[in-house]
Amino acid sequence: MAITTKFTETFGVEHPIAQGGMQWVGRAELVAAVANAGALGFLTALTQPTPADLANEIAKTRDLTDKPFGVNLTILPAINPPPYDEYRQVIVDAGIKIVETAGSNPAPHLPMFHDNGIKVLHKCTSVRHAVKAQSLGVDGISIDGFECAGHPGEDDVPGLVLIPAAAAQIEIPMIASGGFADARGLVAALALGADGVNMGSRFMCTVESCIHQNVKEAIVAGDERGTELIFRSLHNTARVASNQVSREVVEILKNGGQFPDVQELVAGVRGRRVFDEGDVDAGIWTVGTAMGLINDIPTCDELVSRMVSEAEEIILGRLGNMVEDDDEENVA
Ligand SMILES: Cc1cc2nc3c(=O)[nH]c(=O)nc-3n(C[C@H](O)[C@H](O)[C@H](O)COP(=O)(O)O)c2cc1C
Repeated sequence: MAITTKFTETFGVEHPIAQGGMQWVGRAELVAAVANAGALGFLTALTQPTPADLANEIAKTRDLTDKPFGVNLTILPAINPPPYDEYRQVIVDAGIKIVETAGSNPAPHLPMFHDNGIKVLHKCTSVRHAVKAQSLGVDGISIDGFECAGHPGEDDVPGLVLIPAAAAQIEIPMIASGGFADARGLVAALALGADGVNMGSRFMCTVESCIHQNVKEAIVAGDERGTELIFRSLHNTARVASNQVSREVVEILKNGGQFPDVQELVAGVRGRRVFDEGDVDAGIWTVGTAMGLINDIPTCDELVSRMVSEAEEIILGRLGNMVEDDDEENVA
């Protein structure tokens, strides 16, 4: 059996499950394992220091899988922006057929992607941005609720409302993102009107994810209250793991501090030490409230096949059994 949706059909994957872009985490080993499990993995373009490194990472992923996979291009405002055009050119030249855009309006990138037969899945955190992206001609939406790891936007609308509100206005394939980690979430997303789920935190805590084992164990030990929202006052909210550093950042900004006052605390090099060396208090690292649902470190194949088979059981068993057939009762 299989769960077939508009998402699986449009993006050519077996299961309605995606692994969204993850800075420092979305590398070849993880993305290939997700692809081999029949889900849709995305390499994170900007994890690669240069466009040439991205080309190498795409080649490395192809050595590990024959299945489709995509590349995430996150476009965020920056004082010294990375060479987005060059990363985009590498994606096209490498023959990638699916791109996940996130962070800002995908319009400048759409003509080149579409001219080269690339489907664009745009990730956003509000109904209005999803509607806008649909009108621009993207091929799918990933709607990211307040529960999510990373940037939940500034509206604070959780998935229970955001997903059906978006589904009411979105006609193209739409997957739900933020807080999904198991079969119950997948079934709930489908019931709310989505065509599948996107997961970050859950895939981060798998055997093939290349981060330090200590971080995976911290995710398993953590619960749904284990995150902080930093940069609220700067209108650039990010959901990250609660630790000494993130709590200090929240405190400084709450007391009127500005970005320069926390710049050293949030430095990328400190965050890298968390993932590379396993010191979970060394800096800021990203994870979502889904931590409360993550209790093990499976392979991607175990995770995806378990989610799909349990989702089928929930739909046909537990939910199906709740529906009584009035006619049958009358006959009896
Ligand atoms: C470690 C980590 C890094 C992330 N980096 C990015 C990123 O660079 N670009 C992006 O679009 N999303 C990024 N995300 C967000 C994920 O793609 C996804 O939208 C999010 O994790 C969904 O919420 P969940 O963690 O509850 O599944 C990141 C998430 C994590 C956990």
